[in-house]
Amino acid sequence: MLLKGKRLVITGVLTDDSIAFHTARVAQEEGAEIVLTGFGRGLRLTERAARRLPEPPEVRQLDITSVADMRALAAALEARWGAVDGALHAIAYAPDDALGGRFLETPAESAGTAFLTSAFSYKTLAVGLLPLMKRAGGGALVTLDFDNRQAWPAYDWMGVAKAALQAVTRYLARDLGPFGVRVNAVSAGPLGTVASKSIPGFRQFEEAWADRAPLGWDVTDPDPVARMAAVLLSDWARSTTGEVVHVDGGFHSQAIGVGPG
Ligand SMILES: NC(=O)c1ccc[n+]([C@@H]2O[C@H](COP(=O)([O-])OP(=O)(O)OC[C@H]3O[C@@H](n4cnc5c(N)ncnc54)[C@H](O)[C@@H]3O)[C@@H](O)[C@H]2O)c1
Repeated sequence: MLLKGKRLVITGVLTDDSIAFHTARVAQEEGAEIVLTGFGRGLRLTERAARRLPEPPEVRQLDITSVADMRALAAALEARWGAVDGALHAIAYAPDDALGGRFLETPAESAGTAFLTSAFSYKTLAVGLLPLMKRAGGGALVTLDFDNRQAWPAYDWMGVAKAALQAVTRYLARDLGPFGVRVNAVSAGPLGTVASKSIPGFRQFEEAWADRAPLGWDVTDPDPVARMAAVLLSDWARSTTGEVVHVDGGFHSQAIGVGPG
């Protein structure tokens, strides 16, 4: 089993569509012990989704922008396990006026919120868990990216935040490597979740993938993304850090589509 005995923190489970839900499921199937975190009014939904996992795990509150929440989570994990082997960062948020094609009108506060919640937060999670990963003799962190080397319709300041998230991944890899902590990102193709449905024009992404991804792409199937996250959380990826692994049916590698279009 790929993750046998690993103690993992999985953030970002909102529903059983969440990419984090499927990562939690694969992690349990592969032998990991997990703790989920949920946030604000969504905490009840996280608790409900947790009951649908193979083994319903403990759910803890974590608003990643709250220093008190991060401290309380670390204390609870210390009491439970004494050490942590890794975590999935599956957190993103942008206010409505930072998405949807009004890039030029977005106020600084909204762009700042998108950055703090979606990119800086990877640093918050990493630093919050570092003492516990040191106790484990090292660890692995994985975040979920949507590749923004090019501009997309509607994605706007969330796209800018995702580009920052890739950079955060590399700087964390630099600073945590000496402690044996690997820091990577999975760049996923579009999947039908609560987060993606809040992006106006999500259907355009679906159509572009149908046209360009050489392997094809199913927006209803988060399993390939979850499996890659599990690989990166495992010892099979022990010399990989600062990396962005694409799980997008190969979309990023093609200039134009030869698909059904
Ligand atoms: N769905 C896609 O097409 C797609 C593609 C590539 C990357 N991603 C990324 O995957 C990650 C997970 O998103 P998803 O698509 O599974 O959607 P989702 O809506 O299921 O998950 C988003 C999560 O972010 C959490 N969150 C928001 N603000 C938070 C805060 N302040 N503190 C803690 N948690 C907070 C929500 O509670 C929710 O669980 C996001 O980073 C998203 O950008 C999604």
